[in-house]
Amino acid sequence: MKIIIADHSGFCYGVKRAIDLAVKNSSSNTIYSYGDIIHNKDEINRLKSFNIEPIYNFEGLKEKSKVVIRSHGEPRETYEYLEEKKVDIVDATCPYVKRIHSLVEEYSRNGFTIFMIGNRDHPEVRASMGWSLGDIFVFASPEEIVDFQGKVDKVLVLAQTTIKASLWNECEEVIKDKYKDVVFINTICSATSLRQNSTRSLAKEVDAMLIIGGKKSSNTKKLYDISLSINPNTYFYENKNEIIVQKFKNYDIIGISAGASTPKWVIDELVEKLLNESEE
Ligand code: F3S
Repeated sequence: MKIIIADHSGFCYGVKRAIDLAVKNSSSNTIYSYGDIIHNKDEINRLKSFNIEPIYNFEGLKEKSKVVIRSHGEPRETYEYLEEKKVDIVDATCPYVKRIHSLVEEYSRNGFTIFMIGNRDHPEVRASMGWSLGDIFVFASPEEIVDFQGKVDKVLVLAQTTIKASLWNECEEVIKDKYKDVVFINTICSATSLRQNSTRSLAKEVDAMLIIGGKKSSNTKKLYDISLSINPNTYFYENKNEIIVQKFKNYDIIGISAGASTPKWVIDELVEKLLNESEE
């Protein structure tokens, strides 16, 4: 059995950096991540051994506790609240997301209305909205922009980092038609498209594909859908405990891909089990 791992798979830069920062700041005292630092329960459990615990509100948080802001970022008011509470902030916002916050703040200060292309319920978008000093509107589709009736003068258009390039292009066309004074800054991060493209090309080459990652991770689910549309022998496992090696014994070449929230050690453990048990 030959195993090929996709060129781009597993942790993206921002998630890896956030976890490294949390671990670096860990000690015998518990430190808290505000929300799940990653959509992968195996990694969250591993981080618990470093006394890193997720919290979902700030109730009961004491002065001088340490709170990690995850890679999705947080609105300005979260920082203000934590500073007022004298909480020690470890800011692990991905630098690409941080750039969006700076652009939102700078352009809104200069009188621009901000248009964000993305999902208004996503934590990254909610965080970015919280840096605007003026109007900010989120659009999930070009149709929503066509229907938009608000009065705007000059506009800055930005993207949620994980949207598809095709959605950005379609929205750009509509906005160009509708508004005159517009600045477009494409803030899509390449991590998602690199993982999708390398899954797409690997799925064409192999007998079966294994997609590894958390069931709650939307980017991993997307990789599964892409792979399945190309290779019907595509399987989605969260970790080594779920895989039934027997199923793969008749395949010569197996491709592996993993979402941006899947730790390398989870991939390694699964590959090891596959190789060891397929020889038995
Ligand atoms: Fe950052 Fe891109 Fe990952 S924006 S968190 S490196 S998907």
